[in-house]
Amino acid sequence: MSAHQPTRWAFVTGAGGDIGGAIADLLAARGWGVVCADIDLARAEARAEAVRAAGGRAAALHVDVTDEASVNAAAEAALALGDVRALVNNAGRAFAPSMRTTDYASWRRDMSVNLDGAFLCIHAFQDHLLAGGGSIVNMGSVNGIGMYGNPAYSAAKAGLMHLTRCLAVEFGGAGLRVNAVAPGTVRTRAWVERLAVNPQVFDELNAYYPLGKVAVPADVAAAVAFLVSDDASHITGVVLAVDGGISAGIPQLAAAVTQDR
Ligand SMILES: NC(=O)c1ccc[n+]([C@@H]2O[C@H](COP(=O)([O-])OP(=O)(O)OC[C@H]3O[C@@H](n4cnc5c(N)ncnc54)[C@H](O)[C@@H]3O)[C@@H](O)[C@H]2O)c1
Repeated sequence: MSAHQPTRWAFVTGAGGDIGGAIADLLAARGWGVVCADIDLARAEARAEAVRAAGGRAAALHVDVTDEASVNAAAEAALALGDVRALVNNAGRAFAPSMRTTDYASWRRDMSVNLDGAFLCIHAFQDHLLAGGGSIVNMGSVNGIGMYGNPAYSAAKAGLMHLTRCLAVEFGGAGLRVNAVAPGTVRTRAWVERLAVNPQVFDELNAYYPLGKVAVPADVAAAVAFLVSDDASHITGVVLAVDGGISAGIPQLAAAVTQDR
């Protein structure tokens, strides 16, 4: 972006985490001002500081995306900082691994952070974005496409990915684009508990991916940066899989079906 153009700002939730942090870094490198928003303010501040140290523009804000008052306060603070033209609903996490371990309280936790949170953020920014254009990117998952465990999380991500399509249609006339990305496995701290159970978990998972490896946060950030950019100006309502091909199929399964090994 040239010095003569006003800085466009992006509001990135979960920016204290690994994927959100990579998104903040890359958007800042591409000229966006970045609001690093997270329930963990210290981590959001550390990321904003890292962005500034690299020569970018960034600020940190506390937000709990499951709390309407917190989201509205953060949105107001962000809009006072700069002209927010991109909303990246990245905050999320998975709770119960199976239906047998899902009670209603746990179901609500998965729905709340992964689906309600994006709704609340969109609701808080939609008037501003509809008035001046821009884009929204929602962090989906391959769990919203097929079954990879965590049924409540998966249902929430499927809901978020369909909300993406609904809003693309509703908002398109105002020049507000709405897209999602659907990562497969990404090496982040969200895997710490599973790594403690099985230190080889990524090595095991690599074998199921057509590209032979799970993703790193920068792989997902690249897709988000593309979707918010002007290069994607005619793209809305898509769910872009960033999954090493796993939603297309699993090599061992194809080989077992064909018996062509
Ligand atoms: N890591 C993967 O394998 C993977 C795969 C597909 C999708 N995703 C999605 O990517 C996104 C980021 O995950 P990650 O792997 O970087 O995890 P992460 O744990 O590194 O980051 C998540 C961040 O969200 C923040 N957060 C949690 N609850 C919040 C709340 N209520 N309000 C605001 N912030 C909150 C956390 O503090 C953390 O900084 C999530 O939506 C996740 O579902 C991850």
